[in-house]
Amino acid sequence: MRDLAKPHCFSTVILLLTLLSFFSVAKSKDTLSATESLGPNQTLVSAGEVFELGFFELGTDSRWYLGIWYKKIEQRTVVWEANRNNPLPNNSSSLKIGYDGKLSLVDESGNVSWSSNQSQFVGVSKNPILQLLDSGNLVLKEANDISPNKFLWQSFDYPTDTLLPEMKLGWNLNTSLDRYISSWKTPEDPSTGDYSFKIDYHGFPEVFLRQKQSIIYRSGPWNGLRFSGVPEMNAGNGIGFNFVVNDEEVYYSFSEQGNETNPALNSRLIVAPSGNIQRLTWIESSKVWNKYWFAPKDQCDSYRECGPYGVCDANASPVCKCMKGFQPKNPSAWSLRDGSDGCERETELECGNKDKFMKVENVKLPESGGAVVDMGMSLEECKVKCLGNCSCSGYSRARIQNGGSGCVMWFGELMDMRSYADGGQEFYLRLAASELDGDGKTKIIMIVGIVVGIAVLLSAGLIICFVRRRRNSGSTLNRRESKGPLERSQDFLLNSVVVSSKKDHYSGDRSNDDLELPLFDFSSVVAATDNFSDENKLGQGGFGCVYKGLVEGQEIAVKRLSKNSGQGTEEFKNEVKLIARLQHRNLVRLLGCCVDVDEKMLIYEYMENKSLDSFLFDKAKRYLLDWQKRFNIICGIARGLLYLHQDSRFRIIHRDLKASNILLDGELDPKISDFGMARIFGQDQTEANTKKVVGTYGYMSPEYAMDGLFSIKSDVFSFGVLVLEIVSGQKNRGFYYSNNELNLLGHAWELWNEGRALDIIDSSVGASFSESEVLRCMQVGLLCVQERAEDRPTMSSVVLMLSSENAPLPQPKNPGFCLGKKPETESSSSKQDESFTVNQVTITILDPR
Ligand SMILES: *[C@@H]1O[C@H](CO)[C@@H](O)[C@H](O)[C@H]1NC(C)=O
Ligand SMILES: *[C@@H]1O[C@H](CO)[C@@H](O)[C@H](O)[C@H]1NC(C)=O
Ligand SMILES: *[C@@H]1O[C@H](CO)[C@@H](O)[C@H](O)[C@H]1NC(C)=O
Ligand SMILES: *[C@@H]1O[C@H](CO)[C@@H](O)[C@H](O)[C@H]1NC(C)=O
Ligand SMILES: *[C@@H]1O[C@H](CO)[C@@H](O)[C@H](O)[C@H]1NC(C)=O
Ligand SMILES: *[C@@H]1O[C@H](CO)[C@@H](O)[C@H](O)[C@H]1NC(C)=O
Ligand SMILES: *[C@@H]1O[C@H](CO)[C@@H](O)[C@H](O)[C@H]1NC(C)=O
Ligand SMILES: *[C@@H]1O[C@H](CO)[C@@H](O)[C@H](O)[C@H]1NC(C)=O
Repeated sequence: MRDLAKPHCFSTVILLLTLLSFFSVAKSKDTLSATESLGPNQTLVSAGEVFELGFFELGTDSRWYLGIWYKKIEQRTVVWEANRNNPLPNNSSSLKIGYDGKLSLVDESGNVSWSSNQSQFVGVSKNPILQLLDSGNLVLKEANDISPNKFLWQSFDYPTDTLLPEMKLGWNLNTSLDRYISSWKTPEDPSTGDYSFKIDYHGFPEVFLRQKQSIIYRSGPWNGLRFSGVPEMNAGNGIGFNFVVNDEEVYYSFSEQGNETNPALNSRLIVAPSGNIQRLTWIESSKVWNKYWFAPKDQCDSYRECGPYGVCDANASPVCKCMKGFQPKNPSAWSLRDGSDGCERETELECGNKDKFMKVENVKLPESGGAVVDMGMSLEECKVKCLGNCSCSGYSRARIQNGGSGCVMWFGELMDMRSYADGGQEFYLRLAASELDGDGKTKIIMIVGIVVGIAVLLSAGLIICFVRRRRNSGSTLNRRESKGPLERSQDFLLNSVVVSSKKDHYSGDRSNDDLELPLFDFSSVVAATDNFSDENKLGQGGFGCVYKGLVEGQEIAVKRLSKNSGQGTEEFKNEVKLIARLQHRNLVRLLGCCVDVDEKMLIYEYMENKSLDSFLFDKAKRYLLDWQKRFNIICGIARGLLYLHQDSRFRIIHRDLKASNILLDGELDPKISDFGMARIFGQDQTEANTKKVVGTYGYMSPEYAMDGLFSIKSDVFSFGVLVLEIVSGQKNRGFYYSNNELNLLGHAWELWNEGRALDIIDSSVGASFSESEVLRCMQVGLLCVQERAEDRPTMSSVVLMLSSENAPLPQPKNPGFCLGKKPETESSSSKQDESFTVNQVTITILDPR
């Protein structure tokens, strides 16, 4: 037994030794000497096993890269590529330190396809080694030089799309080295894409996001704690920020500390191929990269949105305002919500020492490439200095921490400012003295004006009522003044005064607040509609019946609301007043309302051509809609809907957009009707969830129909359906193509993917149509009906896509609800009122959950 045991024991030791030696060979190392090379099946791993360097393949066309990725994150996340613009055709190259001291990728035949290309220290190095550090920095250094941070070459000087902790974004002014990050071309292609994020060291330094050469976003200058345009940027969670400006360097960097309780987040800043700057952090528990922060975020982040002296406020509508003392330079473009021409002074500066400064709070500081910074100056000195130079248009503190320090002065036009509800910082704007002195006086004049106005209107109201009582009122309908009972006319007049005295802080918004909303009296409406006779009935829908009426020779449409509107009279009048203020050439005009005991009615202008569906789905009338008219109708609806969505003082989500709710005027121009009904029926939570789903099958977005979630994107979905219906002349609901179960959306999607998009067009359009317009409409339609709400465009991009030949259109993803139902499930009621209704087959599902 012993004899047998011995050799057994011996062989075990041998085996162990072999294994040990194998492991010591296989154990990854973090350095490569000048005599070694790194092959395709080898990697370097940093000492703490944080990062790994090696070859990897991307895409399906055999492209190989040398790169660095996180060692411990299984989902391969590459943070640097050596040869992003020179992929290797196969895996047969290796990495070497060349005789010239350069790092090189060499193929089998000894050809160099990429090299580190440094100019410094070439030939000086005697014993260079390559090392991958735990920071993710790949460094080439002298083997026996132990001084830290002295490198012959380092990958941190040549970033690709990722900024890692401790990596510098910005300039070494000694060597003119500019370190910036730039996007991959696509998620599969790391070659240099269109977007870059780069520091401009001129003036008061800041970072610009560019698409090719044009700036699309700027961070705002560094104020000591954060970038002025990123109020949400706060050190914490183990992340710290650093911005260095001196004669040798201008750079931004961030740091990250992890410890036992709070491990490092592996945070990194990237420029995504889509043109977004993002800070991503790794969530170990769910194994995903979390988008911690990103920019640009909203319309106001878009560069120079409001032009010179304009201030963008993302919570206002329109977003552009002029600063106090300024007025729109191009009022007509401004009223069309194009603020890019900006504003001009109402009163010219007097210069000398006469001008004054107004403090503007919570703003992103203006573009500051031409600003002058003096860190030694106090705010008071700054003011004096600015006042002394007529072209100085404003000043601010350079640093905000510890009560603030330093001084920045801006010269000439102030660009790209925005305001924040919270955060941002203060800015001192130069104005002519009269602009500020006048302030107190205007206020007094305004107050006196309002008081006098109320008094005059009150007495006028009383007189009118007094006169009317004596005359024992007749029943002719007068649109200019209220003819209700005494209290009604009084409180109506008072209400309109209260509304009109409200003024905006900035001066850009010149909307007509003091709109008169006529109250029609019941008896006159009864007379106008011949006591709601059946001959005058135009249609019936979920909200009530619609009648045609005739008043003093003019036609009106009267919507008699069904009685379950759930609102009190006052609430109703307030809502109607709000909605009457929405005026746009693509919305049906609300002329007034009528309230009687338990009756509520809305009075609209009458549309002689009735509704879109009465043309589109009619065998004879569809021929009247040629392509030009159809395209015009699509664009008109888009503009009307954009107006509803953007007027965010009381943003309106239509919730029941469909062909029968689009009315056509004498010129066949479209007008959206029934907007704001959700408000009138008291169900308008601004977002999220409603228990009661109002809408029409075939037009409802999946998230709305199934989860009761509605948003402007649900309207976009309905709009998309409408576009496809207008182009194809087919109803989404009730359309079944051949024998498969696709509805119109599914059919359009199929044609699109098969490259037969033009087959969709309605044959009644005839032969004359613009192919590019049809294709654009179809693509926009498909983009709008995408299944995921976040993929759908907003109406402002839709309008842009429709109006511009050159606007880039993304590729649509699959639509929501593309399977149809079998025809027998069609209800007969929907067929019967097809000819004309203002509101048809509106279904109401109570409590879908
Ligand atoms: C390199 O490519 C060859 C052929 O494409 C393949 O057989 C081999 O496994 C690859 N080696 C590595 C390390 O990927
Ligand atoms: C790498 O692969 C080559 C052939 O593909 C092989 O000869 C070599 O031994 C491998 N090296 C290691 C460390 O596995
Ligand atoms: C790799 O690509 C190079 C250049 O195209 C070619 O010369 C070489 O033969 C290829 N090697 C292999 C193993 O395919
Ligand atoms: C190596 O480079 C030379 C010169 O550029 C070229 O002529 C040759 O074809 C290359 N060899 C391979 C295998 O790519
Ligand atoms: C290499 O360096 C030279 C001069 O410094 C420069 O002109 C060239 O563009 C560089 N090439 C690459 C691939 O970076
Ligand atoms: C810039 O050059 C000066 C003088 O040569 C040197 O002392 C300094 O370290 C350099 N700074 C940087 C950031 O390279
Ligand atoms: C770990 O880091 C977090 C965040 O940086 C810090 O709040 C906490 O005090 C640290 N804990 C220890 C034990 O150092
Ligand atoms: C005002 O400031 C500008 C910009 O710094 C400068 O070019 C100009 O000379 C100054 N004018 C006066 C009168 O100081």
